[in-house]
Amino acid sequence: MTGTVRTENATPHVLPPLPYAEGALDPVISANTLRYHHDKHHKGYVDNLNKLIAGTPLAGLSLEKLIAATAGQADKVAIFNNAAQAWNHSFYWRSLHPKGGGAPPAALKQRIEAAFGDLAACRKELATAATTQFGSGWAWLVLDAGKLKVVRTGNAETPLTAGMTPLLTIDVWEHAYYLDYQNRRADYVDAVLDKLINWSFAAENLG
Ligand SMILES: [Fe+2]
Repeated sequence: MTGTVRTENATPHVLPPLPYAEGALDPVISANTLRYHHDKHHKGYVDNLNKLIAGTPLAGLSLEKLIAATAGQADKVAIFNNAAQAWNHSFYWRSLHPKGGGAPPAALKQRIEAAFGDLAACRKELATAATTQFGSGWAWLVLDAGKLKVVRTGNAETPLTAGMTPLLTIDVWEHAYYLDYQNRRADYVDAVLDKLINWSFAAENLG
């Protein structure tokens, strides 16, 4: 199994525990932020999703299948948003690590150098995507047709619906950083990229 959340297909959907202690990412992300983000926001998406699909033909589908089945459908926006946010958050927790930052594993480093020139250029593209996403959304490192790319998505949108393979993500919804950084999104993004970003998780997702 890869590092993604593809095995999460329980009915009802369950909130996965954080993969580290609440205080493990402090001081970059405080325990207070993680507690609210995971126990209120992420939980809210999972709970809402379960309510929306209970007793419907969509109950029993994995998050990935729900996302694929509801993307772009005007009458299923709420289900898509909650399913995608549930998936995105599980992926985000694993995109961070208390001992993150630093250098990627060799195989990923080579792919990054082939696509971006060097790690600094990749990091800069991620930071730019994260800081220029207008309003709520996500910055992603993805594999797109065999090539590494940085993309950004708004609100609950995910690169999965474009057929891309997410490698890692940074949540840039205000709830991800406002308690610690107020409006200084760029400071949050810089600190995450320097101290927490989980290159090993991205390398696992290369497959
Ligand atoms: Fe979030």
